[in-house]
Amino acid sequence: MTGNEIRRKFLEYFEKNGHKVVHSAPLLPANDPTLLFTNAGMNQFKDVFLGNEKRDYVRAASSQKCIRAGGKHNDLDEVGKTARHQTFFEMLGNFSFGDYFKEDAINFAWDFLVNEMKLDVNRLWFTVFEGDGEVPADTEARELWIKAGARPERILPFGRKDNFWQMAETGPCGPNSEINYYLGDEPENPEKNHPKWVNGEGDTTMEIWNLVFMQYNRIETAPGHYKLEPLPAPSVDTGLGLERMTLVMQGVSSNYDTDLLRPIVEFTAELSQG
Ligand code: SER
Repeated sequence: MTGNEIRRKFLEYFEKNGHKVVHSAPLLPANDPTLLFTNAGMNQFKDVFLGNEKRDYVRAASSQKCIRAGGKHNDLDEVGKTARHQTFFEMLGNFSFGDYFKEDAINFAWDFLVNEMKLDVNRLWFTVFEGDGEVPADTEARELWIKAGARPERILPFGRKDNFWQMAETGPCGPNSEINYYLGDEPENPEKNHPKWVNGEGDTTMEIWNLVFMQYNRIETAPGHYKLEPLPAPSVDTGLGLERMTLVMQGVSSNYDTDLLRPIVEFTAELSQG
């Protein structure tokens, strides 16, 4: 399956499920001093999550062009060291603005990956927010993954760094749940397909999809002091890496070997040979 087909399948799946397909926003965000470049699919919906703007739809899906080369989400230091980071990438996303919440977000993700894309469930791992003094543990997400079909031992708790997502220092945010994919040769071997690789070293197991359960607005109360206020309505913001999903579907071991990026690498190599 080509990268273009994966993009199309994703958008068609969510359109069929009541989502308005929206164009990618420009890489330079309009009117947002908290961002230099667009870093996620949700950027163009920030004011909708905050309740400051209304659209004529409550569900959306997009393939957003993103740059993560600075700021809160900076992949620059990882580029060239891992098989899965670029400075520029496309983020497939589905969004709910006060419409569906956790259960549907989890069921859509499971259905798309397992039933539509036919991924091997033995290779999937899930993470949920473990909770801290400010935000409770997301036991609900854990239960919902189990209900969807995930094995309990494949659901792991993590802290703020991995399982609480915010766009910038301020703005919409919430606990998140990530879907990870084991890329190794022995999915049946628990010694190899091991939980230590989830958010661990290397590319053995790789995050493919992040589901954010948007519940808060992080505001600055005094210089360097922040607090979380509830959003007008619980919402959903997800991001599935197009190049990573293409890597998985094409059975290659690097994003740069997918049909999305390989031709660019080859063309650059040709140019460099004069
Ligand atoms: N905003 C979340 C992220 O960038 C989900 O799309 O990971």
